[in-house]
Amino acid sequence: MFDIVSVDSRNAEALEPLGTKRKFWYLDSNRQMLFKAEERGTGEDWAEKIACELCDLIGLPHVHYELAYDETGEKPGVVCESCAPPPTSLILGNQLMLDRDPDYPVEQANRYRVREHTVEAVMEIMCELGPPPVLWMKGTPDGVSSALDVFTGYVMLDAWIANQDRHHENWGALRDGDRLALAPTFDHGASMARNLSDEERHERLTTKDRNRHVGPFARRARSALYGTVAATKPLTTVDAWRVVAKLTPEAAHAWLDRLAAIDGATIEALLVQVPPSRMSQVCRDFTRSLLEENQRRLLTEED
Ligand SMILES: Nc1ncnc2c1ncn2[C@@H]1O[C@H](COP(=O)(O)OP(=O)(O)OP(=O)(O)O)[C@@H](O)[C@H]1O
Ligand SMILES: [Mg+2]
Repeated sequence: MFDIVSVDSRNAEALEPLGTKRKFWYLDSNRQMLFKAEERGTGEDWAEKIACELCDLIGLPHVHYELAYDETGEKPGVVCESCAPPPTSLILGNQLMLDRDPDYPVEQANRYRVREHTVEAVMEIMCELGPPPVLWMKGTPDGVSSALDVFTGYVMLDAWIANQDRHHENWGALRDGDRLALAPTFDHGASMARNLSDEERHERLTTKDRNRHVGPFARRARSALYGTVAATKPLTTVDAWRVVAKLTPEAAHAWLDRLAAIDGATIEALLVQVPPSRMSQVCRDFTRSLLEENQRRLLTEED
């Protein structure tokens, strides 16, 4: 089983106002830690943890998450350490987009429907950033060295885990003095269809109706990245990957090689480490099936 960190909310130093879930920062032996509560029963805790372990497997720079409970022992969540301890600070994507384009609609209420959040604009910003600091780059494959190369891996991850949450506050840069470097990837709790009901998972795994199978379901996952500012909908996660992979073919190959090395037994060995109280057997089976389906789509380029 994965370790479960016990967090005492009386040690909370500051609430984190950004994002949608209850969160607070606390100090643990001088490390700035963030507790993200999972009070809605939507599975964001296990999704965050599994995504973190998948990042580890492929060598992607990522914030490390552990499953957690707050002191009552009743409120599940996850904890992570700040990726931007002082004197570093985290500059989010929306700020970087605004710096690039003063007309960028940074205040738009729906963060998932910002048409100006195009692959091209984000990739342009990547060309201006340094790669994540060496501390985060220990596992990256050969051929991956720039921020652009690393972000290519983030987009592949999103397609693999069906992360629909790569909006402009879920990527960013670490500022250290005058230097700006791509931040490790974070906030993957809204992935792997974590909020589907177990009834629907069971039905999709067992139905004879092909339109209800995992395959057609997987094809529906949408990114928060757009193809063009004129597009009416954001790209699907796999289409976003295809656009990015065309722009960075060498890095794309390096990341695909890492993905190809992951087998079903390795995924299963991760999934069984989530306590059954947080992830049922049917949820495990469906998640494995979804990951395998997306892996197949990425590796074969067939839909
Ligand atoms: N490890 C970290 N280091 C530094 N800042 C962080 C870290 N994790 C989160 N943050 C900050 O807290 C904000 C909210 O965290 P996060 O995105 O994980 O939560 P969320 O509620 O899931 O967000 P969303 O509404 O995007 O789903 C981030 O946008 C970022 O500014
Ligand atoms: Mg977020």
